[in-house]
Amino acid sequence: MNLFYLIVFLGLQVVTASEWGYWGKYGPKTWSELCATGKRQSPIDIVTEDAIRIDLGALKFDRYDFAFSGSLINNGHTIQVKLDGVPIHLSGGSLPSVYVLEQMHFHWSAEHTVDGVRDPLELHLVHYNNQYANFSEATQHENGIVVVAVLFEFNNYDNPDLMPILETTKIVSNWVGKNMAQMRNKLIPLLLLPKDHTTYYSYEGSLTTPGCQESVMWFVMTEKLPISEAQVNVFRHVQNSNGTLKYNYRPKQELGNRKVHHRLEGYNSASSLYASNIISVVNVFLVSLLYKNF
Ligand SMILES: *[C@@H]1O[C@H](CO)[C@@H](O)[C@H](O)[C@H]1NC(C)=O
Ligand SMILES: *[C@@H]1O[C@H](CO)[C@@H](O)[C@H](O)[C@H]1NC(C)=O
Ligand SMILES: [Zn+2]
Repeated sequence: MNLFYLIVFLGLQVVTASEWGYWGKYGPKTWSELCATGKRQSPIDIVTEDAIRIDLGALKFDRYDFAFSGSLINNGHTIQVKLDGVPIHLSGGSLPSVYVLEQMHFHWSAEHTVDGVRDPLELHLVHYNNQYANFSEATQHENGIVVVAVLFEFNNYDNPDLMPILETTKIVSNWVGKNMAQMRNKLIPLLLLPKDHTTYYSYEGSLTTPGCQESVMWFVMTEKLPISEAQVNVFRHVQNSNGTLKYNYRPKQELGNRKVHHRLEGYNSASSLYASNIISVVNVFLVSLLYKNF
């Protein structure tokens, strides 16, 4: 009896894990569990005017400046890049721990919008908390995952830093599933971050694919990187088992009672306290004027 249920359970898991997509019968509206019921889901629209300006500290990108070999896989939902060799670490930015880079992948068009604007591409650098054994274990814990998101906007010229990934994407775009392709050229992850990687938006959210686990601290870089239309088209021609994966972004989710922070270098609480003191002094002045007049 127990064994029977175990087999049924595993069978269902396999079916639900493979049957999801970005449109039609298996589109985001049909994603179940936390994707449907969660309260801190991603992506969101970042309303810059509502973001709380505060200096949470710079992110520290450790070994991002090394050149890595690596390989790509087309898993039918995205193009994923895995780097070989020594681990790459992320810390700082008021993070409670050190995070290990697990993989990076792309969404076309971008998942996070800024003041309603959707860019053509978004890169996700996915990290897990080094207190946990691996990525899937970390997704089960608060503060388990950190994703650094980089937005790419259209430019007339090719972005040369994307070449190692794009030339290999062309190779795997018809290989849905198991086969990986080694990148011919090494990749320096730092070049996939904007020059100013100290200014970012951050908020608490989730994975943007099923099961939408709510264990992600998001860091969306403020500065964008350039990409040409021809380069975006390489991603738009990736195939999955049902044809062309013409887009792979999840629609925006409710912010609810969450806050988005806008990290600005040197923007300390003392200066904002000073500003709010001036506002209250002005308010007292205005209120006393009102009382005098009536
Ligand atoms: C892909 O197409 C097949 C056959 O039409 C269908 O059974 C399957 O559910 C589709 N999968 C997705 C993710 O749309
Ligand atoms: C991840 O770690 C957990 C806990 O140590 C372990 O049970 C699980 O098999 C690991 N999963 C993978 C994919 O390595
Ligand atoms: Zn992603």
